[in-house]
Amino acid sequence: KEITDFQVNEISALQFEVIATCGPKARVGNLTLPHHKADTPIFMPVGTQGTIKGLTSQQLEDIGCQIILGNTYHLAQRPGPDLLDHVGGLHKFMNWNRNILTDSGGFQMVSLLDLADINEEGVNFQSPHDGSQMLLTPEHSMKIQNSIGGDIMMALDDVVSSTCPDRNRVEEATWRTLRWMDRCIASHKKQSTQNLFGIVQGGLDPHLREICLEGLIKRNCPGYAIGGLSGGESKDQFWRTVSLCTDRLPYNKPRYCMGVGYPVDLIVCVALGVDMFDCVFPCRTARFGTALVGDGSLKLRSPQFATDFNPPDVNVGGLVNEQYTRAQLHTLACKEQTGAQLITYHNICYMMKLMSDMRTAIVGNYFDKHVKNFFEQQYPDHK
Ligand code: GUN
Repeated sequence: KEITDFQVNEISALQFEVIATCGPKARVGNLTLPHHKADTPIFMPVGTQGTIKGLTSQQLEDIGCQIILGNTYHLAQRPGPDLLDHVGGLHKFMNWNRNILTDSGGFQMVSLLDLADINEEGVNFQSPHDGSQMLLTPEHSMKIQNSIGGDIMMALDDVVSSTCPDRNRVEEATWRTLRWMDRCIASHKKQSTQNLFGIVQGGLDPHLREICLEGLIKRNCPGYAIGGLSGGESKDQFWRTVSLCTDRLPYNKPRYCMGVGYPVDLIVCVALGVDMFDCVFPCRTARFGTALVGDGSLKLRSPQFATDFNPPDVNVGGLVNEQYTRAQLHTLACKEQTGAQLITYHNICYMMKLMSDMRTAIVGNYFDKHVKNFFEQQYPDHK
């Protein structure tokens, strides 16, 4: 299984410096990417067609977003690599001057479509657009991500569900992720302007995670992601796996936990030394009328809010909290597109504040107290 002839990243298009720590692992960092700085720990909202549903690029900037996610598969369909090459990448296409991160595309296929089939060449799937068969290889993923021009690109990985009972399959995916990493490094054409992150796989098996960690670290990636989690495993297994990874990953490189975005999970993972997160959760839950607030969430469509004239959460701030009441959002969330947009705006503000409060607590050296307060607020009955 040992891969002796591996590729090594030569150039990094980022700078990262840990500027404060608190407790054994929590840290605050300055990440400088080609388009903009990013303060870590950071939450990165997820866009699909090059935008966060319902928000403009200007609004994202106003809210303080420094990195947004683009979806490689959707962007490959439309506007497509040729048009993106023509306009000079997604930043220009969507008039977003801050950072973009793109995922490699395979995970979306495997998680969204039951039709995906993985072999050594790549991820085979049926296009949801026209039913045609498509093969996403590491080379193809790099080509699309180079056309998009994101500041961070993700390697194509072989993702198996964290609850997969077949250890041979998890082991195969671990080694294949390393082999695909080499194909990604070899076909990445813009090393000086785009950072290629490796993704640690290995399921819930500590030995397989170690193999993947060691393999990726030897390849000298500019940053590393922890993948394959949030797929139905217990919290205990999730936290153990994250902790094992953050223990082994290089201290002076950014660490990104993929697809993790419940506020509770963010707090714990920051305590375990993770720097970056993304999740569709705050935007998706907003479209179902749910606002995130300090003591949990508000299902604004429920009748109890029809006469509640408070803002969603006074402590969060931002345009929606300054100008809208829960009663008004209740009416809008029940039938108007505007309701979904305003709650999305609020939920992204909530996530930005959640992260900035954590950074302040780490810098101020009171992160332990901050975590305790957070849990007391979220779970008042469990004191
Ligand atoms: N998004 C959430 N988890 C994963 C993962 O394991 N791999 C990739 N590529 N994307 C993800």
